Amino acid sequence: MSSFEKYDETSRHYDATRLAVGHEIILGCLADHEKPLHELRVLDAGCGTGAYSAALVERVAHIDALDLSQGMLAQARAKLAGHAQAGRIGFHQGSITELPFEDGAFDAVSINQVVHHLGDAGEDFVRLRQVIGEFARVLRPGGVLVMNHCSQEQLRDAYWYYRLTPRAHDAVRRNFAPLESLQEFLADAGFAPRGSFVPVDAICQGAAYFDGRGPLDKKWRDGDSFWALVEEQELAAALEKVRSLYEAGELDAFVAEHDARRPSIGQITFVCAVRG
Ligand SMILES: C[S@@+](CC[C@H](N)C(=O)[O-])C[C@H]1O[C@@H](n2cnc3c(N)ncnc32)[C@H](O)[C@@H]1O
Repeated sequence: MSSFEKYDETSRHYDATRLAVGHEIILGCLADHEKPLHELRVLDAGCGTGAYSAALVERVAHIDALDLSQGMLAQARAKLAGHAQAGRIGFHQGSITELPFEDGAFDAVSINQVVHHLGDAGEDFVRLRQVIGEFARVLRPGGVLVMNHCSQEQLRDAYWYYRLTPRAHDAVRRNFAPLESLQEFLADAGFAPRGSFVPVDAICQGAAYFDGRGPLDKKWRDGDSFWALVEEQELAAALEKVRSLYEAGELDAFVAEHDARRPSIGQITFVCAVRG
């Protein structure tokens, strides 16, 4: 796991500025499976606070939700307690690099905004390739994999506040494998592509995203692990910039300028593939 997560700490506020956007795309990809949606056994890999599991749990047969962080899992367990009691979801603490599941245990895997945490950008994404191999192992033939990721273009132009912290902005882009590499790793592991889908108007942070003064509030920052990449001095400078833009009456214009391309490129990309 990379050193930049502080999920046990941020888990309490994570849902305040984070939504399960694009879950309709996951459902659409899953519906492409030869079995009906309501019979599918699904792995939510890196489930976090369980937002995507919550959006899927009533539509599929069963979800296994796995995360490395006990804090995130505690939030997910609380959110989905009723469904757990009804036997619709089970929780597991563990790593996506070594999944604690039998070969062919699942019909589908959904993984949302997780693999940039593997900390392997400098090593040719060796752990990402391992994780994709694990997905191929735990999926049955014909199983569907949906990976919610960001393109380099989205990271550059679809999060206005990344522009406050140039060093961390470069760092986050390095952590995300380019989509072309992701497709290559999937093909190497025997997955056939089923398309890439962008919910262009979906905003991960919801309405809170447009709050120019948001970065001044730690709870607001807790919805994006990007802030854990921002070193103390860079954070102080960024917050000072927000304050001075606000005082000069220029903060809204700053947000608008650095958000100009998001409505046409979207913030996230879902990559769908099928295990051969
Ligand atoms: C950005 S959050 C996304 C959470 C959730 N999938 C969502 O979209 O709401 C990333 C999650 O990945 C988890 N994570 C990071 N590295 C992991 C690993 N190696 N194995 C399992 N979970 C991991 C973190 O603990 C965190 O909950």
